[in-house]
Amino acid sequence: MKQWTALQIKNSKGRQRLACLTAYDAGMARLLDEAGIPLILVGDSVANTMLGHATTLPVTLEQMLHHTAAVARGVAGALVVGDMPFMSYQAGDDQAVRNAGRFLQEAGADAVKLEGGRLRAGLIRRLVDNGIPVMGHLGLTPQSVLALGGYKVQGRQPEAAAALMADAEALDQAGVFSIVLECVPAALAQEITAAVSVPTIGIGAGSACDGQILVLHDLLGLTPPGATAKFVKRYAELGAAVSQAVHQYQSEVESGAFPAPEQSY
Ligand code: KIV
Repeated sequence: MKQWTALQIKNSKGRQRLACLTAYDAGMARLLDEAGIPLILVGDSVANTMLGHATTLPVTLEQMLHHTAAVARGVAGALVVGDMPFMSYQAGDDQAVRNAGRFLQEAGADAVKLEGGRLRAGLIRRLVDNGIPVMGHLGLTPQSVLALGGYKVQGRQPEAAAALMADAEALDQAGVFSIVLECVPAALAQEITAAVSVPTIGIGAGSACDGQILVLHDLLGLTPPGATAKFVKRYAELGAAVSQAVHQYQSEVESGAFPAPEQSY
């Protein structure tokens, strides 16, 4: 077994704050794993970070399986969670179970994530009963961006907050091992965290969550500075570093300084 299982993530509530990240390829996943990150999500944000789409809607099941398999090959200890893409679980529970199974069977994931609350509780129960660990995702659910009318903080009004609480309790009862809370007011995230038995993993949901997750490209400064959300902290500026290195390489090739004798046979 791996160092981190879904059960261990679940049992870490109240014991350890979980620093989780996304990854989309084997090389980056290996670096995160070696750093001791316990949970690596192969997010459908791959649509934005790697595939150049404006939303997560276009990414396909086959693309998600491809990236999940790459991440799984790079990871020895962390739990690898494959994100079920838009239309891989919405059209019917039988198809959803088969598709979730492909993440474990073909891509080497340890668990799947899917978006939604009470509407998905029956499906989640069925997945869990069939041996497929599930991570929930509530609040701003990007696969519903068209219905939500944009990327907005969720649960600000009392009715919406009560609905989010009911969704979280339903996911908890359905057997998820953790719940992502995205773009939720910090006070509401704190209440949900206290109400559920599994770790909440916040992204734009304040510091009271049991863990945090960020999109790796945001954390590394690979996303253009103007395109990062308020909740992102850029821990590095790799985009600027890549630009600088490429400019220097180009100028040295053009001037004849590269390759030098030490790079030649
Ligand atoms: O796809 C993704 O990266 C996600 C995270 C933002 C939680 O769902």
